Amino acid sequence: MEQDLILAGRVLSFVASPFDAGGAAAAVEEHEAVVLREGKIAAVGPLAALRAARPETPVVDHGDKLILPGFVDAHAHYPQTAMIASWGKRLIDWLNTYTFPEEMRFGEVAYAEEIAARYLDLTTACGTTTMASYCTIHPESVEALFRAAQARGQRVVAGKTCMDRNAPDGLRDSAQSAYDDSAALLRRWHGVDRISYAITPRFSPTSTPEQLEALGALWAEHPDCLMQTHLSEQLDEIEWVHQLFPDARDYLDTYETFGLLRDGAVFGHAIHLQPREKDRLREVGASLVHCPTSNTFIGSGLFDMGGLMAAGHRIGLATDTGGGSSFSMLRTMAAAYEVAQLKGTALHGSQLLWLATQGAAAALHLDDKVGNLAAGMEADLVVLDLASTPAIAQRAARATDLWEAVFPTIMMGDDRAISEVRIGGRKVV
Ligand code: GUN
Ligand code: ZN
Repeated sequence: MEQDLILAGRVLSFVASPFDAGGAAAAVEEHEAVVLREGKIAAVGPLAALRAARPETPVVDHGDKLILPGFVDAHAHYPQTAMIASWGKRLIDWLNTYTFPEEMRFGEVAYAEEIAARYLDLTTACGTTTMASYCTIHPESVEALFRAAQARGQRVVAGKTCMDRNAPDGLRDSAQSAYDDSAALLRRWHGVDRISYAITPRFSPTSTPEQLEALGALWAEHPDCLMQTHLSEQLDEIEWVHQLFPDARDYLDTYETFGLLRDGAVFGHAIHLQPREKDRLREVGASLVHCPTSNTFIGSGLFDMGGLMAAGHRIGLATDTGGGSSFSMLRTMAAAYEVAQLKGTALHGSQLLWLATQGAAAALHLDDKVGNLAAGMEADLVVLDLASTPAIAQRAARATDLWEAVFPTIMMGDDRAISEVRIGGRKVV
């Protein structure tokens, strides 16, 4: 039996989505302490009462630091760790010039293991405790990430990236091998410890109709797993999809036709959507994942957070490493704020934190397990120092309430703001 632990500090819990509840005050509760037991959260509440009920339990006091759920990154490509921030290209050129040559290397187990470990180290240092990652076409790349996550006790969603056209030699599978390899990985890993499998066609341009159909069939056989892919990221990409699928009504239809649209579908980007696509996505309850540092870095466009949230979409936040230019969900929240400003919406600090925790967890259908600090949730959490640099500290010193104190760290914070990280209750930073 692991020893119970009380963490004291400013503990934030969501009681509702700050997008629905009409503001932070109604959506977020502040507590004084959280009790960890056997990798889970046993209680949150007033420090004196929690202490009185368990006088033997040790207390770690984080003072006025903020204790939050660990960040959830709802869309990343761990194999792109070593080529993040590659200069000067837009999506299709960027894939061909930088991404595909790097992904080619992941057939080699030792390299996949090295990058998986590096990626988990870098993201943990940023306070990210769960992610949904694409791998490469190589089953070895999936095994490497799952083994590394399993050894760390970490909750991870991932899948073999499937591509059977418009990718170089050595980086294509087939409809049949994509089905067979995905099915084998799914059977071996889905639901093991904290691992879940996501069926992962990269995007319509790199899959034949036969491959999309095979993966749709696999999803129908395993309806409880997620399906992740890309949707409407750049205008050139959408034009290409129209050429490749001349009979499709729109980009989303290339997935829907093959059984790849329902709740549990997780679409990265979703920037340039047609009205029909928005309606269908909302009707079926599919998830949209906003990747703001990627969208500005690759020049993709401005996600309409205000409009899509008001229409009732299920939306999470993500880095899209390495099209995204940072591993940090703090940096990603700052970019989400800026992109929303350019679309006429000023996101509140509570909304940004929610998108990076409970919102991203809900987009991955994991919000009953991670993304909030409440009794019964898994004990993945991050402790934020709200005065981590002189520039942030002088700004935070002026704050007259919690949200004024938090916002400078959201906008200017980096891994120096991450004072402690726990995964399954165990301290990892
Ligand atoms: N669309 C298809 N593949 C990718 C990828 O690896 N990154 C991004 N940003 N978009 C994609
Ligand atoms: Zn992506």
